[in-house]
Order: sequence, then C-alpha cells, then structure tokens
Amino acid sequence: MVVVANRLPVDQVTDPDGTTRYQRSPGGLVTALEPFVAGRGGAWVGWSGAAGDAPEPFESGGMSLVPVPLSEEEVDRYYEGFSNASLWPLYHDVVEKPEYHRKWWDAYVQVNKRFADRAAEVAAEGAIVWVHDYQLQLVPAMLRQQRPDLTIGFFLHIPFPPYELFTQLPWRSAIIEGLLGADLIGFQQPSAASNFVNLARRLHDLPCKGNTVSYEGRTVTAKAFPISIDVSAFDELARTPEVLARAAEIREELGQPDKIVLGVDRLDYTKGIGVRLEAFEELLEDGALEAPSTVLVQVATPSRERVEHYVTMRETIEQQVGHINGVYGSMAGPAVHYFNQSMPREELAAMYRAADVMLVTPYRDGMNLVAKEYVAARGDNGGVLVLSEFAGAAAELKQALLVNPHDIAGVKAQLLRALRMEPAESAKRMKAMRRYVTKHDLDHWANSFFESLQAQA
Ligand code: ADP
Ligand code: F6P
Repeated sequence: MVVVANRLPVDQVTDPDGTTRYQRSPGGLVTALEPFVAGRGGAWVGWSGAAGDAPEPFESGGMSLVPVPLSEEEVDRYYEGFSNASLWPLYHDVVEKPEYHRKWWDAYVQVNKRFADRAAEVAAEGAIVWVHDYQLQLVPAMLRQQRPDLTIGFFLHIPFPPYELFTQLPWRSAIIEGLLGADLIGFQQPSAASNFVNLARRLHDLPCKGNTVSYEGRTVTAKAFPISIDVSAFDELARTPEVLARAAEIREELGQPDKIVLGVDRLDYTKGIGVRLEAFEELLEDGALEAPSTVLVQVATPSRERVEHYVTMRETIEQQVGHINGVYGSMAGPAVHYFNQSMPREELAAMYRAADVMLVTPYRDGMNLVAKEYVAARGDNGGVLVLSEFAGAAAELKQALLVNPHDIAGVKAQLLRALRMEPAESAKRMKAMRRYVTKHDLDHWANSFFESLQAQA
C-alpha cells in the first residue's frame, strides 16, 4: 500500500545552528494515519514541510517515507495559496472569503502531477494507493492515467461543500474529474458524499445511482467513513502514572482552580477560538464565573503562519486574551492561559485529564479529532465535552453538550451547564461516548474503507 498526502508524518526543521532534524507534523491527518501506516509497514509519499530540494527516501517508525520537493514559489502558490487560501475557506462554508488566482491553480496542477508521478514510481504492480485530502484532489485521475493497474482510494479529511458553494471555483470541473480517477472516494459525512454525487450529476451530466457515479466505463463510489483515532493507545497513555501525576501538577501550577476549561486547536479561523473567549469573557462580566477560581486554558498550535487570514486571526485572538486578562486577571493569576505552542502527546493527555470542561467550538470542521482524544483520555469518566454542531464529531458524540458557535448566548448557557453538571450525569454521558469511540476507532475506520475499496476493485 502507498499513502499519498501533502505532508509526511514528520516535518524537517532547521535549527539556528544549521542542523536539521525531524519533528511530528501538525494536524489530524497525521494523528490518524501515522499509527495506521506504521502498523502495516507501507510507503508514505509527501512533502517534508521545508521548501527546496527533497531529502532522499528514508525509513522512520516502520514506514518508508518518500519526500516530494516543493520550491519556495510552490509553497507560496500551491500550499499557502490554492490549498489554504482558496480551497480551505471554500470547503469550510466560506467562513473567510476564498481568493481565486490562476497562478495558484497552475501551481496546484503542477504539484499534483509531481505527487502522482512519484506515487506511480513507488507503487508495485496492482498495488493499492490511498490519496489524502484537499491538497491532492487531481492526483487520482493523474495516477490512473499512468497506472491503470492500481486500485485508487481517496479520502477527504475536511468538509465537502454543496453545489451552491463549490461552483464558485473557476476550476470546479477539473477537481471533480480529478477525484473521479479514484475507485472509492471517502468523506467524513454522508452529506459530503451526496454533495459530490450531486455535483457529478449536475455539472458533468454523469449517470448516478445512489452513492455511485458511472464514469469512463467504471463505477466510482462516494461514501462516508467518519475518521477516528487510536482510542486504546490514547486511553493507555492517559492512564500512565506519569500522565496522571502531570495532570495533578498542571492543576497545581494553575493555582488549584475549582474548574479548568480547555481548548486545544491548530490556530485556525475555522476553529471558533474567538467564540470561546467571547463567551468566557461575558460570563466573567455577568458575574456568573469568577477568575482565577475558573480558568480557561487555550493551547493553539501555530499553523499556516504566512497566510493572511491566519496572521490577522492570531492578532485578534492575542488581543482578546490580553484584554480579558487585563480586566479579569489578578495577582493570583490570569483568567486565560494562552499557549501558542505545539505540545507533546503526553502533555496534551495530561491537560485533557486535568480539564473539567473541554470546549470545541468550530464554525465548521470535517471531524475534529481533539474531541475524540478528550473522550479517549477520560478513562475516569470525568469531564464534560462542549461540542459545536458544525463539527463532524457531533454526529457521533451525541452525549456532548452541543452548541451553535454563532449563538454566543447558547455557548454561554452550555458552558455554564457543563461547569455545573452533577458528576453522575457527566459520568453517564462520558461513558456512553467512550463506548462509542472504543467501537468506532481508527481500525474500524481504516478497515471499513479498505473493505469497500476491495469490494470495488
Ligand atoms: P485539524 O486536522 O484541523 O488540525 P483535528 O482536531 O482533527 O484538527 O486534529 C488536530 C490534531 O492536532 C489532534 O491530534 C491534536 O491533538 C493535535 N494538536 C492540536 N493542537 C495541538 C498542540 N497545541 N500541540 C500538539 N498537538 C496538537
Ligand atoms: O485535515 C486538515 C489538514 O489540512 C490536514 O491535511 C493536515 O494534517 C492538517 O490540517 C494540518 O495542516 P497543514 O498541513 O497545513 O499544517
């Protein structure tokens, strides 16, 4: 099997003394795919995260990593431009306005071709190639043209928009044709799969039946496979004496507050971090909450830092945090503890374990694995999850307190309800969610995708 994704599971970073090293890449795709590929020993074709020549293929954690080079200009136009300033906002309900530039599109085509060529070189005769995410939607068709012997799967980790939004894209037909090169196209939600089939019918006038499209003598299936995490591994990690001791230490370092509210995200405008801050500030203002007996801890990993929308949102968030702490902080400590840092898995697990309430409030999210990590970490059945209706995870974690992130009053009410919930009720809710994620874990996701792919081949 060959996995093809924009990023390798590790990023190449150069330290100030000029030495290079690898660190875990950010984001949900790597969280989900890394244990899967490492467990099966496949090849992973992807970018090393640094502009310039690609390193030679190398082995890491039981995987053969095959780096694909991107020039400075391609990082600018293909990655930051078309992928993250055109497709990302368009696919996330136009939360920010997408920009469309022909030069960005040309770079997207060029880089997709390079990924397809590299995958075609490394895939054995009759192999399965699994292409991932919005950065590489042209790869399935490009690969099929060169290697008709392959079985090709595609999985989209983010939402897929309805006809009314998708058709903004000047290159809409090329994207649909690119995806139709796959045998099976996986989405996070059934509605995304039907959006795709609807587009194939309306834009391309293709015969469609149920969740299948007839295209160039083949049948292409579009279906939902909600992604998950390695639940038992995360559960075990969160039970280790070291993590439990660290959770207690975190509480102490925060000044033994009565309640800890936690947010963990990539610093992305789709995640609704500002909504959380606003709701928390209003509750302090109303006198419903007091700081620092209740604190909000927000961990936001730096992400796509040169893309304009990300630069402005970071400024806004940091101003909001500064303002809240200026007004509601005291010598005893701040009201909001904000970290613009990436944290090791062990530290995240300890934070999840320490948090009384986990706030996950995206405006739109394909899945949101942070929500599933929180549930997986709570082997003590403690903690309450407040979750946006617009995260894919909301369709599965039904015992979370659901919120509409556009409705500040509603977010405030659910946050208060979470903070005041009786332990018996919160434990009942957490138990039910843990039962669900234990059954619907990473293996369940990957196995159901592969069973469908093999049935299709
Ligand atoms: P996305 O794929 O959009 O980033 P997800 O919630 O699906 O969103 O996945 C995010 C992944 O990144 C999770 O596995 C989460 O633990 C990890 N992550 C988020 N914030 C941090 C952080 N500050 N440090 C380390 N890992 C983080
Ligand atoms: O699924 C969302 C996604 O774009 C993944 O492709 C990626 O793992 C993650 O977010 C992080 O984004 P980036 O690779 O742009 O840092």
